[in-house]
Amino acid sequence: MQTRELDAAAVHALLAAAVAAPSIHNTQPWRFGLDPDSGTVQVRADRRRRLPAADPLRRAQHMSVGAAVFNLRVAAEHLGWVPVVRLRPVADDPDLLATVQLTAPTADVQLSLRELYEAVERRHTSRMPFTGRPVPDPVVTEMTGAARAEGAHLDVPDIMGTRRLLHLTEAAEIRNATDPASTDEMRTWVTPPGERTPYGIPLTALGPQDASGRMPVRDFTGVLPVPRLPAVRFERHAQVALLWTSHDRPEDWLRAGQALERVLLTATRRGVRTSMLHQAMEWPDLRAAMAGTRERCRPQLLIRFGYGTGPGTGGGRTPRASAHPVSGTGPDPGPDPGPDPGPDPGPDPGQGH
Ligand SMILES: Cc1cc2nc3c(=O)[nH]c(=O)nc-3n(C[C@H](O)[C@H](O)[C@H](O)COP(=O)(O)O)c2cc1C
Repeated sequence: MQTRELDAAAVHALLAAAVAAPSIHNTQPWRFGLDPDSGTVQVRADRRRRLPAADPLRRAQHMSVGAAVFNLRVAAEHLGWVPVVRLRPVADDPDLLATVQLTAPTADVQLSLRELYEAVERRHTSRMPFTGRPVPDPVVTEMTGAARAEGAHLDVPDIMGTRRLLHLTEAAEIRNATDPASTDEMRTWVTPPGERTPYGIPLTALGPQDASGRMPVRDFTGVLPVPRLPAVRFERHAQVALLWTSHDRPEDWLRAGQALERVLLTATRRGVRTSMLHQAMEWPDLRAAMAGTRERCRPQLLIRFGYGTGPGTGGGRTPRASAHPVSGTGPDPGPDPGPDPGPDPGPDPGQGH
């Protein structure tokens, strides 16, 4: 039994929240289906929006879809439903990554995610310098608790640990910058001035390089024939957090994506800006090194967080393709940005480039 009708307005609100999720290179690698009889939203991977160089196993793609699933859950609670999620519910349909069934709340149920709804639209990646004012412990504790609530871990290292993670990220950034497959791919997903597309990252959303060389932000503009922003000094003591899981199967990547979005929305709600440093995850040896001495640690993403230097200094927003539920194979989601996706990696494929 449902508490409210799954009408056009509700579907619109659910999907608008889902597509506001972060996705690697703003690929938006999701598609949605709807079964109105059971009140279920189906969330599929769009294999055409994958990154063969940066993400050959589609790990980051699963994380991106997981983030969209989390936003669906938040919107469902906001609308008064209890979302019941099943990850990869059909064994022989590996692109059906999740179903979210909208069920009626019982008297004792706590809709604790609805408080994050207002942050869904406000959250966006900020690649600009932060002030360096430390985010206080209670907020950091709330962020780590958000990851834990989704079955993942968020470690916030001390200064030496932070330096180590940033060094590994820098090593990956150097490799990416000189790897033709990576640079060609990145070029496909950065939108040059004057071009209009709902996918990829517009120049206005990119940030400068760090003049001190300490912060290895991804150099998206290096691949384009456009003038670079002048380098500026980033915060001296960066705050970063390593998101990790204990296993490395597609389900774990989906959990990591939900944990990522829960952490980002929690930070946004507390006025904390965030961005992501994924480069080290794209090279198996560097990804393994990110784990350090932690046991059973499968690093999924490095998150940088801090306070902005003032209103309007967060950097530009990224666009979104509007989402409509489709049934069956649905309409063509747009041009294929990459080569044939190849076979599904199957469970627990480990790491690879
Ligand atoms: C798995 C994952 C990896 C990402 N890696 C990076 C990264 O290495 N560098 C970066 O600047 N942004 C990274 N992002 C952020 C995306 O570029 C961003 O989410 C996307 O462009 C949409 O913009 P928004 O977050 O402002 O909505 C990543 C996002 C996800 C989900």
